[in-house]
Amino acid sequence: MTLNAAALDATPAANRVELLRAAIDEANYRYYVLDAPTLPDAEYDRLLRELQTIEAAHPELLSPDSPTQRVGAGPLRNFAEVAHAIPMLSLGNAFSAAEVDAFDRRVREGLDRPESIIEYAVEPKFDGLAVALHYQRGRFVRGATRGDGLSGEDVSANLRTIRAIPMRLACSHPPEWLEVRGEVLMLRRDFEHLNQVARDKGEKTFVNPRNAAAGSLRQLDPRVTAQRRLSFFAYGVGRIDGVELPATHAAVMDWLAELRLPVSGERAVVRGVDGLMGYFQVLGERRDALPFDIDGAVYKVNRLADQAVLGFVARAPRFAIAHKYPAHEEITLVEGIDVQVGRTGTLTPVARLKPVFVGGVTVTNATLHNEDEVRRKDVRIGDSVIVRRAGDVIPEVAGVLLERRPMRDSLTPLHEPFVMPSVCPECGAPVARIEGEAAARCSNGLSCPAQRKQALIHFASRRAMDIDGLGEKLVEQLLEQSLVRTPADLYRLDLQRVASLERMADKSAANLLTAIEASRGRDLARFIFALGIRNVGEQTAKDLARHFGNFDALMAADSVALQQVADVGPVVAESLRTFFTEPHNQQVIEQLRQAHAWRDGEARPVQAGRLTGKTFVLTGTLPNMTRDQAKAMIEAEGGKVAGGVSRKTDFLLAGEEAGSKLTKARELGIPVLDESSLMALLTENDASRE
Ligand code: IVH
Repeated sequence: MTLNAAALDATPAANRVELLRAAIDEANYRYYVLDAPTLPDAEYDRLLRELQTIEAAHPELLSPDSPTQRVGAGPLRNFAEVAHAIPMLSLGNAFSAAEVDAFDRRVREGLDRPESIIEYAVEPKFDGLAVALHYQRGRFVRGATRGDGLSGEDVSANLRTIRAIPMRLACSHPPEWLEVRGEVLMLRRDFEHLNQVARDKGEKTFVNPRNAAAGSLRQLDPRVTAQRRLSFFAYGVGRIDGVELPATHAAVMDWLAELRLPVSGERAVVRGVDGLMGYFQVLGERRDALPFDIDGAVYKVNRLADQAVLGFVARAPRFAIAHKYPAHEEITLVEGIDVQVGRTGTLTPVARLKPVFVGGVTVTNATLHNEDEVRRKDVRIGDSVIVRRAGDVIPEVAGVLLERRPMRDSLTPLHEPFVMPSVCPECGAPVARIEGEAAARCSNGLSCPAQRKQALIHFASRRAMDIDGLGEKLVEQLLEQSLVRTPADLYRLDLQRVASLERMADKSAANLLTAIEASRGRDLARFIFALGIRNVGEQTAKDLARHFGNFDALMAADSVALQQVADVGPVVAESLRTFFTEPHNQQVIEQLRQAHAWRDGEARPVQAGRLTGKTFVLTGTLPNMTRDQAKAMIEAEGGKVAGGVSRKTDFLLAGEEAGSKLTKARELGIPVLDESSLMALLTENDASRE
């Protein structure tokens, strides 16, 4: 949003303050509630700074609902108690279709309409913590946790830091009083980010997004909460004064959405048990793709008049129930801690677990990342651990239940803390741990059978040389029978000998050789990537191929020449030099040359264009072009497109449904462009515009 500066010079401070607040509120709403940002970051910061300046000069204009008050005030000594005018209840649970059926029958009988089909409002059961937000004449005045249901803690200062919670309702005649109830939670991406930061600092990580949200909301220092990204979804109302509610729960939710409170887009209205079960299934299929954890679906009788008739039993309503999904977290036993050796020799500790069904699959092992991580979590053999698998994230050990640890006596655990072996478990070579790096590595390079195996699997993989059918099992067999030792050996395989392998028919042997044959002459970028040089990923391989054009030029390049390539710094250059000066590698490359494994191209030094020297990261869906098209246009002007946001990123191009990259760019203060601003950059004369 741009405000007309000339016209505003004459506007009194109070009006300007109102305009700025409205513009910032609007930007927050679009970013945090609609997830469709429109205002570039730099512009947002400018508006906020201007508002701060005016408020500092005119303290009489300050108000607690100003967006400047979201950054977090000074720490509290304790939380004040807030009595809930209407108790905050819990929900009964259903774990099976039969229990849902019984619920629906109770509803029909309770309403004295045993034969009718009931209409239900259905929504996700958010896995966070319940809060009540109080709005007086449309302004946020207080917010409290659920506590024991009768009274909770006043966490207003912390709730103010949650950008998705409006400080002012979008309504010209707001009700005298509106209490909104809903759930504070942490999005998975924000949780991952928070834990990554904690890991980098060697601090304790949170077990799950729910605990992270709870820990953040109950901070006495709101400045800490302000740094944790919390989200909020409304799911109902409490005390209301001066407004007539519509007739159904669904309509109440629509009204809250109009007031610009965040409500879930997953809500729906269904009829009867069939409708409930259908929703449960559809939501279940979407569960892993949602940006936040849910642990079930909540079914509510839609008509408020019917809800009133049904009333409550004990501490739960008769008109609503939570239908639970199988858990994303389970407790199981650590039977052992293995150490796996990866392609570049990295040693990864892996917890071997008593099989447990979690997040829809049976999990038998979970990565422990590295030695520091095992130490921090202090995972030991015999421990009971919480295993978590949410979304498509690989299963991980979220934490240890120390109270269940097997003990020798009251003070001494039965098992010792984990220590990384000092020799490689696969080849016995010494293990090196590089200063400042978390990873420990086998020092034996491709002489280590585990690394050799992983290197071959990588060489053949789809994005590398793309040798169809050459997967882990086959690579293992080829290695065991000593048919191959290096990638170059693949091109010398003998049909007869391959056919004699176990479970290998003539036909599949012939197919394999055909696939290997077809991989000869792959382009240079794939070949460079296929070599599996440490720190050289797919994009770097492409950049190197494009810059040098042929393999000999790349091999001959010294560190300075290598660093001419955008995004190649001293670390990558060092990895390349180390790889190319290794005599064994030189030998294998020579053999691959003779096998015509790759085809050289032409060096295409990047021409100076409007975007030369600028690095972009792309995220989200653009309105009129695909990301690949945008990438091609940026590259045609000499710009670079990188995969992840870092301090080196010059611009983030964000479309709809932009996720963690956008968050990170905002944190780093990197300018965010939309498609039209990109087009402006591509067409204007001066690319140095900020
Ligand atoms: S309605 C009177 N709707 O579940 C019913 N609760 O077990 C009040 N929750 O404390 C709750 N998602 O924290 C409702 N869509 C949803 C919910 C939800 C999560 C939580 C809430 C409540 C607990 C009850």
